[in-house]
Amino acid sequence: MYSVSIRKTRMHPGKHAAALAALEHVKIDTILGVGTGSTVNIFIDALAAAGTRVKGAVASSEATAAKLQEHGIEVLDLNMTGQLELYIDGADESNNNLQLIKGGGAALTREKIIASASREFICIVDQSKQVDVLGEFPLPIEVIPMARSYVAREIVKLNADPEFREAARTDNGNIILDCYGFSITDPVELEAAINAIPGVVTNGLFAMRPADKLIVGYDDGHIEIIDKPS
Ligand code: A5P
Repeated sequence: MYSVSIRKTRMHPGKHAAALAALEHVKIDTILGVGTGSTVNIFIDALAAAGTRVKGAVASSEATAAKLQEHGIEVLDLNMTGQLELYIDGADESNNNLQLIKGGGAALTREKIIASASREFICIVDQSKQVDVLGEFPLPIEVIPMARSYVAREIVKLNADPEFREAARTDNGNIILDCYGFSITDPVELEAAINAIPGVVTNGLFAMRPADKLIVGYDDGHIEIIDKPS
C-alpha cells in the first residue's frame, strides 16, 4: 500500500509493521507530535511516502526535527500549537498497562513533555519491547551535569546501579544516567520518587502518562493493537 522498501522491511519487519499501522491514525491537516528513534524514523518516511498532508509537527528531538524537515514537513514550536491531538512515539519497554520505559535515544524529556501535551499517545513497538515487569532495560534519567554524582548516590539508595552514559549529551545539554537493576513493581511510585531528587530533569518511566494505544508489530508482519486498560 505504501512505498516502503522491501530491504528495510526485511531488516526490521516488526518495527515497519507497527509504524505503517500508525499512519491510519493520522488525520489530515492536523498538527502531529512526533517522537524519536528508529521506529519513528520508519513512521516519518512512511508518512512522507504516503503523502499524508499534515499542518506540521512538533518534534521530540533535533534528530527528528531534521528528518521531518528533510521531508518538507514543517516543524512547529509546542508553545505556539496548544494541545496536540496525537503523539506518535516508540518505546524501549511496555508493560500490559501501557506504562513505558523510554529514553534509549536520550530524548526522554521532550518526549514526556509532548506526550503530556497530547490528547492521545500512540506507541509503536516491535514485539521485543513487551514485558510483564518494566526494568530489564536500564532506566534512563536525564540529569543536570553538576548533580551527576549526587543523583547517582541517591539512585544507589533506591537499590539500583546507575551508569553514566559516556559522551552522551541530551538536546537540553544534560547528561544521562542509565540505571540497572530497578525492580519496577510500582512504576507510578518510582517515577515520582526519582523525579523528587534534586538535579533530576526527567526519568524515562512513562507511568503517570502511559500510552493510550500500543501498536505491536511482529516479525511476520502482523500487528496487534492494545488499548490502555480503563
Ligand atoms: C528515544 O529517547 C526513546 O524513547 C525511543 O523512543 C526508544 O528508544 C525507542 O527506540 P527504537 O524505536 O529505536 O527502538
